[in-house]
Amino acid sequence: MWNPEQYLKFAQPRFRPAQDLLARIEIDSPQTVYDLGCGAGNVTRMLAQRWRDAKIVGIDDSEEMLQQARAENAHLDITWKCQSIAEWLPDEPADVIYSNAALHWLPDHQTLFPRLMDMLSKNGVLAVQMPNNFNEPSHTLIWETLKSGPRASRLEHLIRPSPVHSAQFYYDLVAKIASKIDIWETTYLQILRGIDPVKEWTKGTWLKQFLDALEEADRPEFEEDYARRLREAYPPQENGDTLFPFRRLFMVLQK
Ligand SMILES: C[S@@+](CC[C@H](N)C(=O)[O-])C[C@H]1O[C@@H](n2cnc3c(N)ncnc32)[C@H](O)[C@@H]1O
Repeated sequence: MWNPEQYLKFAQPRFRPAQDLLARIEIDSPQTVYDLGCGAGNVTRMLAQRWRDAKIVGIDDSEEMLQQARAENAHLDITWKCQSIAEWLPDEPADVIYSNAALHWLPDHQTLFPRLMDMLSKNGVLAVQMPNNFNEPSHTLIWETLKSGPRASRLEHLIRPSPVHSAQFYYDLVAKIASKIDIWETTYLQILRGIDPVKEWTKGTWLKQFLDALEEADRPEFEEDYARRLREAYPPQENGDTLFPFRRLFMVLQK
C-alpha cells in the first residue's frame, strides 16, 4: 500500500526530475494530457499549470495516493482515475502521455512502450522518467539484507533484475515509430538530512514491497539490518549530510 506521507518526505528531490522532464517537452497547446502513475498529484498540478486549456487526466491504481491528489488539487480542473496503467486506454488519442517515476513498476517494457506510442495523436509526445538506481547499494542492499535473513526463501520471488533497461533498448524499441527521439540519463547528487535518510527514501518506494511482504514483527530487525549496511555505503559527512547519488533515465518521444 502506498503511503503519500512517506513518499513526500523527500518531495523536493523527487520533484526535480519531473520538472526536468517537463522542460524538454516542446508541445505548446495540447488538448489532452495524461499523467500515468500520477501519485499524490503534485506533478499533475504542474502539468495543469503549464497547459491551462488542456484536458488533464491523472491515472493511478493507488486509492491512497489519489485521495491526496484530489484533496490537494480540488481547485483545479483535473480528472482522476483509479486504474492500472496496464489496462488503461485514453478516451481519445493523447497529445501528451507523461509519466514520472511510475513505469518501472510495470513489466514487459518491450510491449508497453510501443503500446503507449500507439495511443498518441499525430506529433503527440510520450515523456517518461524512471529511476535507474537498481544496481546501486540503495537497492542491492535490500536484496543482500533479505538473502542473509531468516525469511530469504519465502521472499526470494521479490528479488528481480532491474525493471529499467538501457537507453539503447528504448531507442531500438521506438526508432521506427517515433519522428523525434530524445533520451538521456542523469545522476543527481542528492544531499539528504536526518537519520538513515537513504532508508527513509527507499521506504517511500522500492523497499515498501519487501516490508509489506514481511510479518509485522520481523520488520524492525530487517529495517535496522538494512540501515546498518546503508550507513557503511553512504556514510554521513562531517556536517551530518548524507550524499546519495541517484541515477535516472529520461525520454521524450514524439510520434
Ligand atoms: C513513485 S510514485 C510517483 C508518483 C508521481 N508520478 C510523482 O512523480 O510524484 C509511483 C506511482 O505509480 C503508481 N503505480 C505503480 N504501478 C502502477 C500501475 N500498474 N498502474 C497505475 N499506477 C501505478 C503508484 O501507485 C504510485 O502512485
